[in-house]
Order: sequence, then structure tokens, then C-alpha cells
Amino acid sequence: MRYILGIETSCDETSVAVLEGRATHASIVASQADLHAQWGGVVPEAAARQHVERLHPILQQALDTAGIELRQIDAIAVTNRPGLIGALVVGLAAAKSLAFALRVPFVGVNHLEGHLYSAFLTEPDSDIPFPHLALIVSGGHTELVLARGHGDYQLLGHTLDDAAGEAFDKTARLLQLGYPGGPEIDRRARQGDPNAFRFPRAQVAGWRFSFSGLKTAVRREVERLQAQGALNAQAVDDLCASFQQAVVDALIEKAVSAARAYGAPTLTVVGGVAANSALQAQMRTACQRAGLNLKIPPPNYCTDNAAMIALAGYFRLLAGERAAYDLDAYANAPLGDDSRPQ
Ligand code: KG4
Ligand code: ZN
Repeated sequence: MRYILGIETSCDETSVAVLEGRATHASIVASQADLHAQWGGVVPEAAARQHVERLHPILQQALDTAGIELRQIDAIAVTNRPGLIGALVVGLAAAKSLAFALRVPFVGVNHLEGHLYSAFLTEPDSDIPFPHLALIVSGGHTELVLARGHGDYQLLGHTLDDAAGEAFDKTARLLQLGYPGGPEIDRRARQGDPNAFRFPRAQVAGWRFSFSGLKTAVRREVERLQAQGALNAQAVDDLCASFQQAVVDALIEKAVSAARAYGAPTLTVVGGVAANSALQAQMRTACQRAGLNLKIPPPNYCTDNAAMIALAGYFRLLAGERAAYDLDAYANAPLGDDSRPQ
């Protein structure tokens, strides 16, 4: 098994990657963000249709970038859960057809498992350390996971309401900063004062998070400033910085204490929000203080990509896993739940 093809279509990024063993030769991502920006969020049917249009040109681009022919592919890994069903089905059907035509094995990968592996994409030659503690922070998920081995995960806690990325996107919409909101809030926050507004840090027991109270507090502040005619550019920068700081504080506090509690020497931060510059800088300082080894993927591997799916699939294929042609797609699927048709 030399070349693995990865396919990711679970949300609004169409992505195809080629790995040789653990080394990435190509990871092409076509984002649909511009399309969905007009609606202020992802429209599922539009996402699925875009995947149909784009998947094969991107497959060709990935093969060209890797410098190989389709017939050289030895196995295929595809995201089959969780995600938007219509979007997932496009990638899954393509993966099955390719596996059938090429007579190669394929496996279905949990998108969250892909994010877990994204922390190690740039280190193909070093062993993946177990146990490690992973903070998954994306548009749809905010979870703390103890990774004990390949395919052996314990979900410690998740958000009770909004995901961290969702909180960024909703706050950006409130401030009319466009979609997706995370990168723009990150940019505006650099010019703002994180102490200008004191937003609440939710006190949630255990390894869980909550961001809906924060979202409401920002909305109230925006309404108050609007009523006073004081919602100027500086106020928006300050709101962004103060909101972002509240999210960053919550994420760092829980992730570092969970890593300590479970004796995990390595902490990974993965998913789109892991690209946040304040989170990265402050998490680095906190981990140094706590004596933890920190791994955050480069920005192009924080957000959705097929390289991470191919890497997760690589370990499943190595362990002998093979999917059957009746493998289905699932909108909801917790990490570590391997009860799926094989
Ligand atoms: O992992 P991802 O690409 O897709 C999901 O699986 O959800 O994450 C997308 C999320 C969006 O909510 C986006 O606003 C957020 O990641 N994001 C950021 C940044 N870059 C992307 N949030 C904060 N700061 C960023 N720099
Ligand atoms: Zn994701």
C-alpha cells in the first residue's frame, strides 16, 4: 500500500489529497466560502451541488500535483460521518466508484478523527505520541478527547450549546463582518483591546464548554452601543478582541487542566479555530508553563482538508480495516463509535 487517496466533502470544502505512506504529496482544497457568504452560512443543498461540480477537477489537480496516475492509487479514505448528508454522499459515492473501478480497498473515516490526525501531518517520520489530549475546535464541534491509541478515543466533554467556531461566525454576523467570521474577528481583534469589555466566562462543570451566554452578552453590548451611536470601528475592534479573549480563556483553561488530569504529556489543538492567532500564542505560553508539549497544525491543516482524512484512513487500512460497498453516510456520529456497516 503505497499511495492513499483522501476525499473530504463533509461541509463546504471540497478536498482531495494524495499521501505516500504518511507523507503528503498533494492536498487540494476548494473552499465554497465565497458562495455561502451571500447567505451568511452554509446552505446544505448548494454545498452538495458544488461538491458534484468540483470534485473531479480537484481529483485531477491532486494527482497532477503528486505526479502520479489514478491507476497508481492503492487505497482510498473518505469522510463518511459526521457532516451534511448531501455533501457527504457526493464524496462517498465518488470514493466507492473509484475503489470499484481500481479494485482497491477503501475505508470510511470519521471527520473528527481526521482532525485529530491533522496535528501530525507535518511530522511523517516521528511516532504519534499516545496518550495525547486533543482539543477539537471547529465550526461544528468543540470537544476534548483523550487519544489513547490509533482508533482508541475517549470523549471527555463537548460544548453544551454553540461550537467555538459557530460562536465566532455568529458574532461576526452580528457585527456584519462576513462569513466565515473567525478569520475576520481574528484580524480585527489584533487592533482591539481584549479588556475593553468584560464578557462572561461560562462556569461549566467538568470538561464541557458553553458559548451561548457569551454570544448573548456580545449582542447586548452591540445593542447598547448602537443605541448610543457609539458602534464605531474602534468599538468593533474592541468587541472582537474582548469576545475572542473570552473564548480563548475558556479553551485554554479546560484543555490544559484536562491534559494534566489525564497525565497526557502532549496537547493538540485542531480544527478551524486552532488557526486563531491569539489562541495559538496564549496556548503556547500556557503549555510552556504547564510543561506540556503543544502541537497545532499549520492553518491549511487546521481547517477542513483531505490530507487529515487520508492519514486517519492510513492507520485504519494498516490495521486491516476494509469497508464494504454498502457503507453509508451519517449526519451525526460521535468519535470512537465504530459501529458502522463494514
Ligand atoms: O474545521 P473547519 O474548517 O470546519 C468544520 O469542521 O467546522 O472550521 C471552520 C470554523 C469556522 O467557524 C471558522 O470561522 C473558524 O473555523 N475559523 C477561525 C479562524 N479560522 C477559521 N476561528 C477563529 N480564528 C480563526 N483564525
Ligand atoms: Zn472540520
